[in-house]
Amino acid sequence: MEYTYEYFKKSADYVRQIVPYTPEVAIVLGSCLGPFADTIEDPIVIDYKDIPNFLVSTVASHAGKLIFGTVAGRKVVCMSGRFHSYEGYDFEQLVIPVRLFKLLGVKATILTNAAGAVNASYRPGDIMVVSDHIKLNGHSPLRGKNVDEFGPRFFDVSRMYTPELRRLALDCAAGSDLTVHEGVYFFFPGPQFETPAEIRAARILGGDAVGMSTVTEALTAAHCGMPLLCLSVMTNMAAGVLDQPLTSEEVDETAKTISTRFSAYVTRIIDRIGEVEL
Ligand code: HPA
Repeated sequence: MEYTYEYFKKSADYVRQIVPYTPEVAIVLGSCLGPFADTIEDPIVIDYKDIPNFLVSTVASHAGKLIFGTVAGRKVVCMSGRFHSYEGYDFEQLVIPVRLFKLLGVKATILTNAAGAVNASYRPGDIMVVSDHIKLNGHSPLRGKNVDEFGPRFFDVSRMYTPELRRLALDCAAGSDLTVHEGVYFFFPGPQFETPAEIRAARILGGDAVGMSTVTEALTAAHCGMPLLCLSVMTNMAAGVLDQPLTSEEVDETAKTISTRFSAYVTRIIDRIGEVEL
């Protein structure tokens, strides 16, 4: 499959026919942020399956809807349900959502995810503002013929997680009832949770949290010059940190406990995003 500029434009043209405004901020909801979608005012909901050249979500806890509306007085687009390589998608396909945001005129993207805490000083329920990532598995989502309309063949990723947005996120944490860290997200492709030995290796290499999403979207954002913020919710201590097996129930349970406060935190960031020049 060759992805051309026209391929991506087809999705955007369809969405533009339905939504009469330009969203300022895009939010990708990880498994932790379900309730955020319910806080969107005047929602316009589009099913992924109706969007030409888009993907469909296969994970039960991911809704598969693009929701447009207003949060904290700003127009937003929200992906309720994201795509992962463990679902069987090629890394190259995972550029699709962020490229749609770019074509719609979005000024900044906020990625959220559930992650396991590798840093032993973190606790379940803590938040990590992602400062950088490590992806040693799989090739780049930008592999293949470069689509020059989005960005150059070779591109810098040293400011991929926009420093000004990270600063704003840390600032918004002050006075909140959340514990917010800043750290490095270590990507593993899943769907199995990691081995304890992999977690020890990730720690030695500088990872603070592990997860199965985000990095492809982040690289796509860097390629097209999209300002980016990523927030990870620590839903569990990573494999081997505690002497007990990891379960997806534990992940879902922590996500549920934190989701309302996390939603409020994301809303506060959107409210103040105008303080950052984008
Ligand atoms: N590993 C990978 N992905 C995850 C984890 C984990 O421990 N927790 C939530 N998503």
